Amino acid sequence: MEKTFIMVKPDGVKRGIMGEIISKIEKKGFEIKQAKLFKPSRELIEKHYEEHKEKTFFNELMDYILSGPVMAMEVEGESAIEIMRKMIGNKDPKLASLGTIRGDFANSITKNIIHGSDSIKSAQCELNLWFN
Ligand code: TYD
Ligand code: MG
Repeated sequence: MEKTFIMVKPDGVKRGIMGEIISKIEKKGFEIKQAKLFKPSRELIEKHYEEHKEKTFFNELMDYILSGPVMAMEVEGESAIEIMRKMIGNKDPKLASLGTIRGDFANSITKNIIHGSDSIKSAQCELNLWFN
C-alpha cells in the first residue's frame, strides 16, 4: 500500500469540479484517508513548491495557489503515486490526454487544476508538510 498527496487547486474548487475528481479517485479503488478544504498560507505553499523557487513561473504559481481554498488529500492504494500521476496527466493541458483529469478539465499550465506527488520521497515529504 502506498500513500500519495493530492491537491485540488483553487480553480478546481471554484469551478465545482472537486466532487468529480474525488469520484474518479474513489472509482479507481483508492481510499481518501484524510482531506481538508482550506486556504493555505504562503509559507506552506512556498515549502510545497520549493523545488521551483528559482523558476520564472514561481510568482505566478504562488499567486494562483493562494487565490482561494484548495482541497488537500491523503490518498492510499496500491501504486497510488504512479497511478494518480497517470490519472492526472501531463502538466501542460495541451499535451494531457483526454480522459486524464488535466486533459478533461484544464486549459492552462498554471491553472492545471490538480497536484499529485511524483515519487515516494516527495509523497512522504508533502504528506508530512500538509497533514502534520
Ligand atoms: P511541475 O512539478 O513541473 O509539474 P507537476 O505539477 O506535473 O508535478 O510544476 C509544478 C507546477 O508549476 C505545475 O503543475 C504548474 C506550474 N507550472 C507553470 O505554471 N508553468 C510552467 O512552465 C511549469 C513547468 C509549471
Ligand atoms: Mg511536480
